[in-house]
Amino acid sequence: MVGKKIILAVTGSIAAYKAAHLVRLLVKNGAAVQVLMTPAATEFITPLTLSTLSKRPVFTQVIAEHEWNSHVELGLWADALVIAPATANSLAKLANGLCDSIVSAVYLSARCPVFFAPAMDLDMWKHPATQANVQRLKGYGNHFLPVGYGELASGLVGEGRMAEPEEIVAFLADFFQEKQDFQGKNVLVTAGPTYEAIDPVRFIGNRSSGKMGVAIAEQFAERGANVMLLLGPSKLSAKHPNIQTVRVESAQQLYEAAMQHFEKADISVLSAAVADYRPAVVAEQKIKKKGDNMTIELEKTPDIAASLGKMKRPGQFIVGFALETNDELQNASEKLAKKNFDFIVLNSLQDAGAGFNFDTNKITILHRDNKRKDFELKTKAEVARDIVDEVAGTVSSSEFRVSS
Ligand code: PMT
Repeated sequence: MVGKKIILAVTGSIAAYKAAHLVRLLVKNGAAVQVLMTPAATEFITPLTLSTLSKRPVFTQVIAEHEWNSHVELGLWADALVIAPATANSLAKLANGLCDSIVSAVYLSARCPVFFAPAMDLDMWKHPATQANVQRLKGYGNHFLPVGYGELASGLVGEGRMAEPEEIVAFLADFFQEKQDFQGKNVLVTAGPTYEAIDPVRFIGNRSSGKMGVAIAEQFAERGANVMLLLGPSKLSAKHPNIQTVRVESAQQLYEAAMQHFEKADISVLSAAVADYRPAVVAEQKIKKKGDNMTIELEKTPDIAASLGKMKRPGQFIVGFALETNDELQNASEKLAKKNFDFIVLNSLQDAGAGFNFDTNKITILHRDNKRKDFELKTKAEVARDIVDEVAGTVSSSEFRVSS
């Protein structure tokens, strides 16, 4: 934790009293701690206590005494944002992008990993609305500390206690330790759909949101890699400072960007849903409606994965994807061999919650030696971690080493 810059955001729960001990432990472990509090949190513990322990002023508002506490600067400064305790109300607000306090403004501006330590009564924690908010926040790539079981402030016994400060510090220390295993590696990730123009107003596209690929880019970046993300037309953007994003629209543009950046890449993960065909001719003007039928002639797009597979040098590692609707294992293993991938990640539209646009995915990883791993349905952030773990496990046993 030495030298790490941590923002601790305290929201209004009785567990806020534990924030004092948490600040103390973080500082003792060498971290610089900036505390933010919601107005409700200041009812439970005073800013004076936390500013004395953190040796910094505590911010409770975006604008205080005519001074603007820049949420953007704070969001860029931190190596980690820890929201502890995180109340049901703050989870609901942050899951829905509300921005009504210094905590929510910094959360929305933060580019660093975010950790939630929820605290609430057992029925509030179990409520489907709270659980849906947790799933949504996990889907955005945030990390959750498990809630504890025991006697709650209400006197009821059950799940909902905030993780102990020692557990939070250990969780963060593990996270920062893990971050190092791709230090110095260059990773290329393709993500999102492609749009193939028919005329100036229409295109052939697909339903990819970019969530899976952006989660993979974020996971590599969190673990120290320099990531080049080639992102098709997606509403998403990557937040981590180790990620450089190149926006593309068509398969041809993605091909050209991949050709440019592949040379430098130690590891490439090809999760983009690339059009296999595009209109042979793009009309310069909007095509007018005529007759009952129309035909558009299509031509093949470049197969980016197959081209990279042919160019691959010893020491370069390529992970491909296969999105299937039928004969999944057979199709995926054919793509693995044909495109010269090191392993392939299969997802099937037959599995509920898997594939396009969901916040979740269910994958199978197939290796060239026929080794196969099936995974449960998980959030895309968790799936990204499984894929990156698999890369780490595979490359560290081959000629090319991932640092530990
Ligand atoms: O973006 P999300 O909404 O989160 O959805 C994620 C996803 C479903 C798009 C993702 O998990 C996924 O499956 N991506 C690959 C989709 C796909 O196009 O699969 P494919 O089986 O058609 O292609 C096989 C492989 O070849 C892929 O690695 C693909 O990137 C690559 N390819 C395909 C065609 C082409 N012309 N060039 C390519 O590089």
